Amino acid sequence: MNVTFSPPALPDTGVLVVGVLDGLVLTPSARKLDNRMDGALVRAMEVSRFKGKKDQTLSLVTPAGSRLDRIVLLGLGEAKTLDASTAQALGGSLYVAVSGNGHDMATVAVDALDACPLSPSEIAAHMATGARLRSYRFDKYRTKEKPEEKPTLTALTFECEAHTGARDLYKTLDKVTDGVFLTRDVVSEPSNIVYPETLAAHAQALSKLGVEVEVLGEKEMRKLGMGALLGVGQGSARESQLVVMQWNGAGAGAAKTKGKGKKEGKAAKDAPAPIAFVGKGVTFDTGGISIKPSAGMEEMKYDMAGAGAVIGLMKALAGRKAKVNAIGVVGLVENMPSGTAQRPGDIVSSMSGQTIEVINTDAEGRLVLADALWYTRDRFKPQFMINLATLTGAIVIALGNSRAGLFSNNDELAGRIAVAADAVNEPVWRLPLGEEYDKAIKSDAADMKNVGNRAAGSITAAQFLQRFVEDTPWAHIDIAGVAWTKEPKPVTPKGATGYGVKLLDRLVADHYETKK
Ligand code: BES
Ligand code: MN
Ligand code: ZN
Repeated sequence: MNVTFSPPALPDTGVLVVGVLDGLVLTPSARKLDNRMDGALVRAMEVSRFKGKKDQTLSLVTPAGSRLDRIVLLGLGEAKTLDASTAQALGGSLYVAVSGNGHDMATVAVDALDACPLSPSEIAAHMATGARLRSYRFDKYRTKEKPEEKPTLTALTFECEAHTGARDLYKTLDKVTDGVFLTRDVVSEPSNIVYPETLAAHAQALSKLGVEVEVLGEKEMRKLGMGALLGVGQGSARESQLVVMQWNGAGAGAAKTKGKGKKEGKAAKDAPAPIAFVGKGVTFDTGGISIKPSAGMEEMKYDMAGAGAVIGLMKALAGRKAKVNAIGVVGLVENMPSGTAQRPGDIVSSMSGQTIEVINTDAEGRLVLADALWYTRDRFKPQFMINLATLTGAIVIALGNSRAGLFSNNDELAGRIAVAADAVNEPVWRLPLGEEYDKAIKSDAADMKNVGNRAAGSITAAQFLQRFVEDTPWAHIDIAGVAWTKEPKPVTPKGATGYGVKLLDRLVADHYETKK
């Protein structure tokens, strides 16, 4: 979608969107238009349920004599609650309202609002971002769809004061949207198209943006002793991969080190240690020999959404040239049952040296992350590690589809994540960790087993991961319930959400970039 910003002018042709505050309070642009139309706007509102509430829209055809094709009234809610994520949601609503009528372009008039925490140019930039986020569509395999069945809106113009400021802010936000779209793309792809090697290739493509990308195959991982990750992939015809992405936007230090397995965090003397993001990338999870029921199994194509989010995040950071040194590591495997698959009861040896009794081959994500986390800590000595994973069905039982589960060994990091999460409307809810839960994964045969009993399934999974981070500040975000949506949301059409990209980009922007 093509988005432009221009000074206030209130056109008299085309499709025009104007705002109305809660309680039918017209914005200056809406009032002007209502005057021009002899009160037609107020009359239309009076005979409808439209009250100016957030996300309400009212679409009007114009009387003969008007050169406007259509007027859309956009409910803004209360000015004092109109923050960035609300403005994005409004942008999503206006996208739906306008594109639903078959228009290809529209103009949105944005006004200064008393008591609103945002300036007009901020409102415009965030609305534009929300509209673009909502316009996402994964339709490349719908070969029979007629053009008239496709959304038509391709151009939006936002009119506001300080429109160049709006354009500059939008440009930065748009790089983050590019990252979200990459995540949605790779998560939406079916598993015959996106498997470990092809997903690694998507990551590799980020080198065009200045991201250093290394791909380790099974041979290299075997040398490193990654028996936990490799065990998961051993039943698949596809080769497992570990992808390491480095964005060195803060310059100095970590940038130049190449050697695999070297302690690079130490080598970089004056640069701060990098920050690290780790993703679960199970490109398809059948459950393995502990096979899943067939109903709904197709959903397990999105079991790589954690890796997808880390790849999208790296694109966002590189795209907007974030002044930070960030590492992205994704463990990519396919969990299949076969003659070579790992069996329940097998004992594997992880890169950390700790042994794991694999009671259930469907608890595979934690096995992948065990080696990916250990590798990341060992090689980079990061300030912190955050992993994202569609790890447990139990988190969906606990929190549903509106919040991800957050687990952390560090209150400061957890607090910062929660604040960033709320700011971008990708909320989290923190759950506890503790010795009493850790007991559940004791094994008689090995150092630990990969599942507890049924109780507190998401927490015992997190306890398992914690055994591979030692004292590194760490957070685990269980995104099983939020990576995919069956219902469209304000800035997310149904399907892959891209959850985590905006959240982690915001965390970086708030706390980890060097001053400009
Ligand atoms: N990938 C699943 C978790 C999942 C469930 C993701 C629903 C997205 C939606 C994970 O690998 C898994 O199978 N977990 C098991 C763990 C159990 C065997 C201890 C589960 O949640 O049932
Ligand atoms: Mn599984
Ligand atoms: Zn899984």
